[in-house]
Amino acid sequence: MSEQRLKTSIAILGAGDVGATVAYTLLQNPICSEVILVDPKKELLEAQVRDLGDATYGGRAATRIRLGTHQEAGQADVVVITAGAKQKPGETRLSLLSRNLHILSSIFTSMSPISPHTILLLVANPVDILTYFARKLSGLPESQVLGTGTSLDSARLRGILAQKAEVSPSSIDAYVLGEHGDSQFVAWSNASIGSTPLRLALSAKLSDEFKADIESHTRGAAGAIIAAKGCTAYGIGNVAASICKYILFDSRTVRPLSFYQPELGCCLSMPAVIGRKGILRAMPMQLDEDERKLLEDCAEGLRAVIDSAEKELKADNELSHALERHT
Ligand SMILES: NC(=O)c1ccc[n+]([C@@H]2O[C@H](COP(=O)([O-])OP(=O)(O)OC[C@H]3O[C@@H](n4cnc5c(N)ncnc54)[C@H](O)[C@@H]3O)[C@@H](O)[C@H]2O)c1
Repeated sequence: MSEQRLKTSIAILGAGDVGATVAYTLLQNPICSEVILVDPKKELLEAQVRDLGDATYGGRAATRIRLGTHQEAGQADVVVITAGAKQKPGETRLSLLSRNLHILSSIFTSMSPISPHTILLLVANPVDILTYFARKLSGLPESQVLGTGTSLDSARLRGILAQKAEVSPSSIDAYVLGEHGDSQFVAWSNASIGSTPLRLALSAKLSDEFKADIESHTRGAAGAIIAAKGCTAYGIGNVAASICKYILFDSRTVRPLSFYQPELGCCLSMPAVIGRKGILRAMPMQLDEDERKLLEDCAEGLRAVIDSAEKELKADNELSHALERHT
């Protein structure tokens, strides 16, 4: 067996704030033989790898960090895509679409041919739309293409509910579903503490005002952090590294992730079982009528964005073919 096959590797595309934090988290909690960092900014990339290497006793820790090319990344077990522009204070995630879709498209050209066993984990925003296009551009089976989606929003939700109920976050089962963005919503009808429905566990506190407050906190948490420090990195670093672990350890953990929803025609977050082959299966949820409507509205909004992005991508391809013919 070749050396290549004996290694487990995670490639991270984008060595900025998020990519470096995912790498650091993977070095502190080793789950693979090597982490490969890729970024066109050569100086930044080399500096990040040297700095991260210093956290591994000069490369002698369980997981090795090195820089690599897009081609090498395309052969990794998991490719974490953080490459792309980030939000400026006050900017929405959707406003990043045009820039980040072009970057995504160029990434698949540079990674080609991508290993048929690779699992793609999208982190760059708008994550639901990019997950949709990654599935198309990569040619990989849709179960192998997933986005972090609302897993970070759901972690924030569990943290707040745990504080209110004075229990550990691990005892809270509650999900933010839909878009990792403004149209996300909390599936209150399914939330529980242990096996006790939230409406029984928190009966007196669970008013409409209480729910609205919590939803606006989870929806606005990233914006508030970005306004103060220019990025969010630790929360998403932890979430992305955990998802890599669920994949490589075939742990069959259930988390809300962004993946293709055939009946809605887009990628958005619903709970799924995650394992070595990516999304092993969707976990159906019995939403109430209002939540069902919120989910459908959210999908409709995402589909409208996908339609206009598809036109932009097509026009770009036609332009580059025309330019090729003239040179
Ligand atoms: N999904 C989430 O919950 C979540 C949370 C935080 C940030 N994000 C998103 O993650 C993305 C990265 O954020 P950041 O703060 O690290 O931004 P950043 O600007 O610090 O880093 C992005 C890096 O991507 C690199 N890059 C550009 N094109 C590339 C390519 N073709 N191949 C490899 N690398 C390339 C850039 O050179 C840059 O270094 C943003 O889109 C941000 O919105 C998502």
